[in-house]
Amino acid sequence: MAELKGRRLVLGVTGGIAAYKAAELARRLVGDGAEVHAVLTSSAARFVTPVTFQALTGRLAWCDPWDARMPDNMAHIELSRAADAIVVAPASADFLARLAHGRADDLLAALCLARDCPLLVAPAMNRQMWQNPATRRNAEQLVADGVTLLGPAEGEQACGETGPGRMLEPQDIHDAVAGFFQPKVLAGRRVLLTAGPTFEALDAVRGLTNPSSGRMGFALARAARDAGARVTLVSGPVALAAPAGVARIDVVSAREMHAAVMQRVAQCDIFIGVAAVADYRPAAPLADKLKKDGRELQIALTPNPDILAEVAALARPPLCIGFAAESRGLEAYAEEKRRRKNLALVVGNLVRDGLGGENNTVILFDEQGRHPLGPAPKIEIARAIVARIGALLAGNGEG
Ligand code: C5P
Repeated sequence: MAELKGRRLVLGVTGGIAAYKAAELARRLVGDGAEVHAVLTSSAARFVTPVTFQALTGRLAWCDPWDARMPDNMAHIELSRAADAIVVAPASADFLARLAHGRADDLLAALCLARDCPLLVAPAMNRQMWQNPATRRNAEQLVADGVTLLGPAEGEQACGETGPGRMLEPQDIHDAVAGFFQPKVLAGRRVLLTAGPTFEALDAVRGLTNPSSGRMGFALARAARDAGARVTLVSGPVALAAPAGVARIDVVSAREMHAAVMQRVAQCDIFIGVAAVADYRPAAPLADKLKKDGRELQIALTPNPDILAEVAALARPPLCIGFAAESRGLEAYAEEKRRRKNLALVVGNLVRDGLGGENNTVILFDEQGRHPLGPAPKIEIARAIVARIGALLAGNGEG
């Protein structure tokens, strides 16, 4: 994955126990193609050393404003001038205070002051420090100054207490940084998605389902959120965490999914049916576990509601997007599905290319024709689909 390919980032690390997690963040940012310049405060360097970051980023890491290695002794300007963003993780209470007051009393603070790029900070501190009126004031001031706050999360803290102030996990900070750079083509839009498989009970313990992992739907939820949309995700049973900021509704069966969608569809502008919904369910599921008796067993199935078709047939439907996972004849089936279900866009993929895996290869079908995408990680495919939806909404779907 190279979501941050070519992005030049200054990674600021301040003094807090979460500094050890900044090393993992550096690794993820570099692994994703970013050019990372680490800058530590002197207290950060008590927790982790610049050498750690030098090894992980493959570049010099900075700490001392008087460091004689600086080519022209202008690092406080040079490092942030050429940056696409400064990301400070962890950002201590003290650092937020210094930032809010425009201090330039160490290299990192000076870089933040002498910048014209975005600044994202991931606060990390004891819950009482975070809840203190002084920190509240500083955080509000920073937001008013255009700084993006990432978190903090709530939970168990290194000091043994529980509450708000935990730094977001490195993966979440990585995802927020990647999302920050995405064009906001769905700003102000409300997106409703279905994802994952459904599970249709046969008896108390068994049921009909399929190998959909939910990854494509969750990637689309993330891509839509990053494009500025308010996202609601109705998910079948999957082992995935919802992206931060996405409202998640868990369901099991197709009928539950149908009910959850119908309840919310009037409040959305865009509906994306990604779920691999079971077309049929056992007609008479047993309350108890079915006992074997060695004889042949017939199971009567009854059709499930077609959620997407029903949404697209509403009097005032949202913009509808469907998926077509086919084992053969993809092009003909996908285009036929688009017309029959009255969809703006169909994402077609061959089952062997996508269902359950990390990557996907798809073809988008819309009014303008076909647009092949991939093979690529599902998040990249998702971002391209969102870009296409943005173009359709803007009325310039051609090209
Ligand atoms: O007709 P087919 O099931 O192949 O269409 C697939 C598309 O329709 C997917 O977008 C899927 O999420 C949606 N669908 C649905 N409800 C069903 C079956 C499919 O929303 N019962």
